[in-house]
Parts: sequence; C-alpha cells; structure tokens
Amino acid sequence: MRLQKYLASCGVASRRAAEKLMAEGRVTVDGQVISHMGAQVEPGQDVRVDGRPALPEAEKCYIMYHKPAGEVTTVTDPEGRATVLDKFRDFPVRLYPVGRLDYDSEGLLLLTNDGPLAHRLLAPRNHVDKTYFVRVDGELDGADAAAFAAGMMLEDGLVCLPAGLEVLEQPDTALVTLHEGKYHQIKRMLAARGKPVVYLKRLTMGPLMLDPVLERGEWRPLSAEEVAALRQA
Ligand code: URA
Repeated sequence: MRLQKYLASCGVASRRAAEKLMAEGRVTVDGQVISHMGAQVEPGQDVRVDGRPALPEAEKCYIMYHKPAGEVTTVTDPEGRATVLDKFRDFPVRLYPVGRLDYDSEGLLLLTNDGPLAHRLLAPRNHVDKTYFVRVDGELDGADAAAFAAGMMLEDGLVCLPAGLEVLEQPDTALVTLHEGKYHQIKRMLAARGKPVVYLKRLTMGPLMLDPVLERGEWRPLSAEEVAALRQA
C-alpha cells in the first residue's frame, strides 16, 4: 500500500495532508525518513510520524448483548463474579459496555470499542432515553405515574428528573422511560413509592431495541442502520 494511503487509513491525516507530512520529512519507515510519494509500505513495517507510531485504526465494532441477570457490567469484578465481557475475551478488539445494568437486571446492553460514540451516548447533555419493563412487589397506579411524571426527590436527596411510567395490564408491571441514568434509579424511585422492584429488563436505548430473537446471554452485531441511527441519536 502507498505510504500516504496507509497514513490516511491510520487516521493520522487525510491523504493530501499525509503527503505534506512526508514532504516535510516527518515520516519514517523502519527508521528511515521517506519523502517520495511512490513509497510502499508492507504489513509489519514500523511507520512513524514525528517519531510516534502510526498504527491501523482498530475496526469499530458494535454489539447488541442481551445481558442476563448474574453478570456485572464492568470489565473485571474484584469479587470474581461473571462480567458482561466474559464471552468477548477472545474477540479481536477490546469491547466496553456503554452504560450499566445492575447485577440482577437484564436486557439490552451495547458493547463497543468506539470510545467517542460511547462517550457521546453517555454524556448527560445528550442523554438518550431508555425504556425498561419492570415488575414490582405491589400494584402500580396513576399516582405512581403522576409522581414519576413530576420528578422525584428521594429521601437521600437524589433528584430524579421527570420520567415516564405506564402501568401495563398486569398492575404489578409497567414500562418506565428514563431521560437520565442514575445509580439504581428505577429501584430507588419505586422503593420510594413503597413498591420494590422484583424484576427489571431494559428494552430500548435511544433508537436501539432489544432484538426479540436474542435469548439471555446471546448477542449479535448491530446492523449498519442501527449504527447510523445511534450516531444521530
Ligand atoms: N435502574 C435500576 O434501578 N437498575 C438498572 O439496572 C437500570 C435502571
């Protein structure tokens, strides 16, 4: 591959800008300054710009995972419990979970190596809505929906923004929509209503919907359309 094309594929610069870097004598291959435009580079050669290695960008990877209960949403667990990444240890790229689900919660979890996208999706100012199916010990009613819609201040001082709660046919179940993501948020909001959560499953995250064909613990890559929708979210 031509050196300028390789540099562009590493995300160092556009092809035109890479040619300029070469012309300025800032590019070395195996320690030798290379400034002629026809130069080729082979896999395994040590290419550097201003002395810094230019490495091919890892391919971006986006995984929809149906998290089962009994896995922690962290890279490692000091207590040695199973993590959501255990199935992906041999993956060619290093994945990270985007956001978290409690140990005993299940449902949609996005895993990716696209740091900037993950960062954007999690930033409070462009937080994407998330929807959960919940079952509580007790019966939900309009007063709970109204309390969620008004926003809640919990006993420990936690302020929760207005959220959606739609009671389903079985009154111990509801769909909850959050516009933010605070630690144990739904459990804490419903505990404050005297109706502790006994089951919680995330169904959506922004434009992503948990694929019903995925059983607990199964995963699939996102489609190109899903990735594009996430980028716009
Ligand atoms: N709210 C919770 O309480 N737990 C979760 O896992 C997600 C949202």
